[in-house]
Amino acid sequence: MTGLSPLPAVEGLGESVLAALAGMPDPAGAAHTSQFEQDLTEAFASRNAVAVSSGTTALHAALAAAGVGPGDEVLVPALTVVMTAAPVVQLGATAVFVDSDPANLDLDYTDAAAKVTDRTKAIVPVHLWGRMGDPASLRVFAAERGLTVIEDAAQAAGTSRAGVMAGAVGAAGCFSMKDGKILWSGEGGFVLTEDPALAAHARAFRSHWLQPPPGSRPQEQLALNGRLAEPLAALAQANLRRFPALLERRRAQTTYLLRALDGVRGLTPLQTATDETWNHYAPLLHIGPPNPRAFAEHLAQLGVPSSTGTFRLVPCDTRPMFASGDQAPCRGAAQILDHTLALVLTEHDDEAALDRYAAVITREAAAWSE
Ligand SMILES: Cc1ncc(COP(=O)(O)O)c(C=O)c1O
Repeated sequence: MTGLSPLPAVEGLGESVLAALAGMPDPAGAAHTSQFEQDLTEAFASRNAVAVSSGTTALHAALAAAGVGPGDEVLVPALTVVMTAAPVVQLGATAVFVDSDPANLDLDYTDAAAKVTDRTKAIVPVHLWGRMGDPASLRVFAAERGLTVIEDAAQAAGTSRAGVMAGAVGAAGCFSMKDGKILWSGEGGFVLTEDPALAAHARAFRSHWLQPPPGSRPQEQLALNGRLAEPLAALAQANLRRFPALLERRRAQTTYLLRALDGVRGLTPLQTATDETWNHYAPLLHIGPPNPRAFAEHLAQLGVPSSTGTFRLVPCDTRPMFASGDQAPCRGAAQILDHTLALVLTEHDDEAALDRYAAVITREAAAWSE
């Protein structure tokens, strides 16, 4: 089997962080954050970028900037992590969970349409595992109902569909740089938007409504401290320079592992859409045999990490804080999660690690009879 390209060089990361430390402490300092934002606008061809402390904060700031507040409803796929819904609730709005289509992982627009009310303000599509639904369908759905689209592109940096980049479908795209994301800074996130007013709102929101330069204007609203710390901004900047190589590394790793698992009993790779350029965030396999979730958990116990087996990812509508019993469960989302082995990779996974995963999965799939 052909090998992976080498791990993209890490030497520059430490130097960048040290350069940021050399300028500290500086109570008003944000030079690395500003430069990182500038670099983001170039790398993602976006007019505005706002760096924040996490993907959750990116969603919080963007939803606040879109005017989401008490009394509003926001459509959120059940096929997501709880961090997508948490900012909606923090803003006093209600998350209304929408199902997904097991055939293609895209939103179930019939279900979404049935859940729109006159209080629905926004929709937050989630590009889980870097997979992206059809942007045209989403735009039409939202435009016909007057909904703002705020994308949860936390896992989708580098994905595009029909020529539209993940995070550029709607009013704002929200990204995470938590460890494990292809573009990472330990903790961190950013908002991309073409709308300067939305960017200005998000920028003020992440910093207690302080407008630059500090002290120039009274703070007119209460907000948050959601700033990206300067050393992490420097780290993010250095990783952004490596981003093409990091994307290539993930593509090679995912392709390598899927090839190694070709023909394994009961496991079938999920197909991308023909117009989708996937960032290969996680090798995705449909688990055919009985008790698929137990199979993923069993693999996790043997050291093969996955979304359901390791992180126990369940549909968001079934989590205790949302499971009111008022709405029918999102069965498509449950089916997708139960039957998908989404393997967790990092840039450090080399051939030996991937061969080990492949050997364990192959052996256990052959023996699985539960
Ligand atoms: C789909 C999705 N949305 C939101 C988040 C939240 O990002 P963060 O952990 O940076 O707050 C994550 C991160 O794990 C995620 O995977």
